[in-house]
Amino acid sequence: MKLFDVYPLNNITIEKASGSRVWDDQGNAYLDMYGGHAVISIGHTHPHWVKRIEDQLERIAFYSNSVLIPQQRELAEKLGHLSGKENYQLFLCNSGAEANENALKLASFHTGRKKVIAFRKSFHGRTSLAVAATDNPAIVAPVNQTANIIFLPFNDTDSLKACFKAQGSEIAAVIVEGIQGVGGINVATAEFLQAIRSCCDEYGAVYIADSVQCGYGRTGKFYSHDHAGVDADIYSMAKGMGNGFPVAGISIAPHLQPKYGMLGTTFGGNQLACAAALAVLEVMEAEDLMEKAAETGEYLMEALRQLPGISNVRGVGLMIGFDVPDNLKDLKKNLLSKHHIFTGEAKPNVIRLLPSLALSKEEADEFLEAIRAEITTLELSSTPITA
Ligand SMILES: Cc1ncc(COP(=O)(O)O)c(C=O)c1O
Repeated sequence: MKLFDVYPLNNITIEKASGSRVWDDQGNAYLDMYGGHAVISIGHTHPHWVKRIEDQLERIAFYSNSVLIPQQRELAEKLGHLSGKENYQLFLCNSGAEANENALKLASFHTGRKKVIAFRKSFHGRTSLAVAATDNPAIVAPVNQTANIIFLPFNDTDSLKACFKAQGSEIAAVIVEGIQGVGGINVATAEFLQAIRSCCDEYGAVYIADSVQCGYGRTGKFYSHDHAGVDADIYSMAKGMGNGFPVAGISIAPHLQPKYGMLGTTFGGNQLACAAALAVLEVMEAEDLMEKAAETGEYLMEALRQLPGISNVRGVGLMIGFDVPDNLKDLKKNLLSKHHIFTGEAKPNVIRLLPSLALSKEEADEFLEAIRAEITTLELSSTPITA
């Protein structure tokens, strides 16, 4: 059987990883400034994470949600504490799309309504409602198309208020990324998130904070929505939660009370996934990774703003994007092939940085040195030679 390629592939086989470094099968080392799509939070193969998974694996990897699973309670307690949402309840699942799917369903169950407000350039996953709320018609199958999703411009408080005024009694939920990731690192303003909060309060809709990419400490606070001083009704999370082990969840505010049957899962919250997720939170706490992400992110953005050629450096903490002009269009490719540095992108011209929260200042400097050199080379080669 042939393999289906999920994405266009780099011709590289990664065999080994540690911290922010990965190695290919030829022994070449690479600096990982992308964390495998924003997934690596505490660093590749962190020894505490490896040990906790190994220890759990030797006891039991999986039993279904029909029995008590103490690791789930431990995880809920630790997550409540670190995220400052102690009175929320946790539902565990397996991926970001599944988390958003359940968040949207729960909002609809709770309100008895059908309509959802989502935003231009949003990405919420590839399952049925999550993909319908994603602003990319190319990945929405005909069966997923629905008139129940209303797309509004991002960061446009007036159109949000106008939409609620016109049809507020029909709106079940607003789903919003605190910082749009796939859409190109677009930071929601505090004013916009506060307006979402007050519209949801006024009209009885559910505020869903998609924190799959921008959450889990990446911006220096547990959820990026925390920077705006608002509490969402549901937070969805995945990527950084397991540091590469598939685990996801939604954190549900106390006034929402899902009943048996509304949410369910076979694999979600299994013992092994909980061990991985607990290890992540333990390391985040022990190594002050949220603070570290804020500091390293600030340092990187400050330095990137001094570079010629690139523009519009933006982001919070270690969720960073910048625009690349046409004459530097090979920058991302060359960073990988010539300097062995993985970065991410957003179409058409954005480079995205989503490294481990444990990225060191020396590693940040290594990246800055390489990008500075590569910009110089590309700018020289694109300058017309005048006689
Ligand atoms: C903001 C956001 N939400 C949801 C998802 C979907 O997550 P998953 O790929 O785990 O289903 C992603 C994935 O990139 C994402 O960035």
